[in-house]
Amino acid sequence: MTSIIQFADIHFGVEDRDAMAAVKATVDGLKPDVTLICGDITQNGKKHEFIAARDWIRTLSGPKIITPGNHDTPMFGIFQRIFDPFGRYKRYIAPLSEPHHTDQHVCIMPINTSRGVQAKTDWSLGVVDMDEMENKVKVMQATAPQTVKLFIAHHPFIYPPSSPLDKETQRGPEALKRLSELNIDGVLTGHIHVPFFLERQPDATEVLSIGAGTLSVRRRDRAASFNHIHIDGEAITMTEIFWKDGKFDRAEPFIKKIAELKSRRPAI
Ligand SMILES: [Fe+2]
Repeated sequence: MTSIIQFADIHFGVEDRDAMAAVKATVDGLKPDVTLICGDITQNGKKHEFIAARDWIRTLSGPKIITPGNHDTPMFGIFQRIFDPFGRYKRYIAPLSEPHHTDQHVCIMPINTSRGVQAKTDWSLGVVDMDEMENKVKVMQATAPQTVKLFIAHHPFIYPPSSPLDKETQRGPEALKRLSELNIDGVLTGHIHVPFFLERQPDATEVLSIGAGTLSVRRRDRAASFNHIHIDGEAITMTEIFWKDGKFDRAEPFIKKIAELKSRRPAI
């Protein structure tokens, strides 16, 4: 079995200090084989926020896969946003991330859907670079067919019906369709601060979208939380672990049989 922790939207600077003080002990008890951090690691992309994030990530044991969010660009530095949007992220956080993770059950690959500036009014929105995605899929396809293949990103490729944000990720639906054709099994994200587990089934394609909540105080009527995902030869199980009344508790898990996930896709 592979034990995976999925964090998103910790937003150092406005992190939930009580939950964060308790989270490492809870995570250690779950014995993660890999820890995922799906962006918005900081609140305003400030140096001191990145240093706090770096120091905390260093306390986590085991390999990490990390991808930046829209808040990990300098919120108040337009020059940096244009010319070096991920400079601080690259300096403080990127060295802590493995390029990808592969073990007996799973292959996990990060892709950056965040941008410093965009040719649209809302710079917080996500964008999928299809060429980057296709190149990374080639690496993933070198693993065995039964290996569960997952991307992590900050922005959901499609937003779930439960999303408090009614937005779109540029090329997200197109990317999800392509991932299904390429036998990729899921996309793990953050951004909306609400956990979800979504099966996409139009046209007999199916790719899981799994979202983690937030461990910040920027909450949308939900407790602070992160996800525990475990994968064995049979199934993917996702459990939201939420902070309530001074302790972490487990929600009812979502379970998806791997054979069902893979068999519904059209043959390549
Ligand atoms: Fe966020």
